Amino acid sequence: MREERRPHPWQVPGHLETRADHLTVDSIDTVKLAEQQGTPLYVFSEKRIADNIRYLRSAVESVHPRVKICYASKANSNMAVLDAVRRAGGEIEVNSGGELFKAKTIGFRPDQIVFNGVSKTEEEIRDAIEFGILAINIDSLYELEQTARVARSIAKRANVAIRIVPEIITGSHIGLQTGLLSSKFGVSPSQIEEAFKRALEAKDAINLTGAHIHVGSQTPDPQPFALAFAEMWKFLVSLYKKTGHRLSHINIGGGLPVNYLSDTPMADEIDQRERQMLRAELDPQQVLKAALEEACVQGEAELLEGLTIVFEPGRRIVGDTGLLLTRVCNIKHRPETGDTWLLTDAGYSLALSMAMYKWYYHLISASRADEAHVTPFKVAGPLCDSGDVYFDLERGARLPNYRLLPEQTNVGDLLALLNTGAYTLDQASQYNGRPIPAAVMVKETGEIKVIRRRQTYEDLCMQDVW
Ligand SMILES: Cc1ncc(COP(=O)(O)O)c(C=O)c1O
Repeated sequence: MREERRPHPWQVPGHLETRADHLTVDSIDTVKLAEQQGTPLYVFSEKRIADNIRYLRSAVESVHPRVKICYASKANSNMAVLDAVRRAGGEIEVNSGGELFKAKTIGFRPDQIVFNGVSKTEEEIRDAIEFGILAINIDSLYELEQTARVARSIAKRANVAIRIVPEIITGSHIGLQTGLLSSKFGVSPSQIEEAFKRALEAKDAINLTGAHIHVGSQTPDPQPFALAFAEMWKFLVSLYKKTGHRLSHINIGGGLPVNYLSDTPMADEIDQRERQMLRAELDPQQVLKAALEEACVQGEAELLEGLTIVFEPGRRIVGDTGLLLTRVCNIKHRPETGDTWLLTDAGYSLALSMAMYKWYYHLISASRADEAHVTPFKVAGPLCDSGDVYFDLERGARLPNYRLLPEQTNVGDLLALLNTGAYTLDQASQYNGRPIPAAVMVKETGEIKVIRRRQTYEDLCMQDVW
């Protein structure tokens, strides 16, 4: 009798599967892909991006009919990814003039764009006003004056929202928390009424349309979102009662998490707090319900009715749509420690969070995906510093000490770092003279499209002048 093979815990039916012992993405064999395109290789799924957007939208629309899903393009601003987002009905969040340029080039409409940033230049503000975007999220009283000045200089009104820093702590990594008074973001609660007042006084230049809060990335529970929403709601109601001015949108930011730990027998090695954060799964519907409940919106139901609720998810839209294929290039045994080391062609220059936040990306064998992953290896990238390893060198228990792979994994084997769709390609660098790898998109049609060509050695010198 044929033995039933149990699905791998990391498996995503219809998306991430195996065939003949090889890992497949939307039915495309990753081993063949790596042979054709070389490694390292970023692989993205267009279908998964679209599915994530549609899922998010329908989940939150079931709670409130007017929403905007402004994809945080910093998570991955490759043009083909932005195009996939736009075609799936997403809107966009940008954080620089460059991201605004990309959004415009892809064809996002002005009413689909919100602009964040702690140190916007006059040029960036001018571009945003000229295009007439939905909201420049104002980060300080100074920036409000600056925006009014720029608007007057081009005789156009700027649509603005005020970014509030609410002093809300989350269970995420400290480097990813943005709602604390000790962080660099937003206008302090004690200055919000002043900001609203000044914005209304500058009517000739400023169109005050919204309030904004972003509590941080990979937020593992609904409470911070709920508290953030309630904080904005309080200001919105008070503004209406004092002045009769209605905001048209309230922006709850990004931060919906991705589960990075769906499969790791070594999770116990990871610090408990870290584990909870990396393993988080939040139902967006529940998040929004909790927010409306916390704010007691029923008291002013009429205000809610005219309001658009904006979300700025980045990670949740692209995190699980991509993986990074890497090849084992070298192997060594250390008799003194008993360890076997696998040296790959993908280091932290291709997945910066691995070094910066000791981020856990699950590693599997793509060429022997169905084999038992039970043998512990030390795994490291090709870069010249000791910190370029797939474990926590400082022994902070933020990553497991070993990665489990099939027995006798060796030079030439293809490995895959899963869930690397967000905050990887955009942060990639040429450090150590390593050209930035190619990226491919598996299209909904099944076609494989190169969405970023592999850099050459010549590209390494291209911008230098000598
Ligand atoms: C203002 C703002 N909005 C949205 C995001 C996206 O966060 P995430 O990718 O966790 O959804 C970020 C990320 O740092 C951000 O700074």
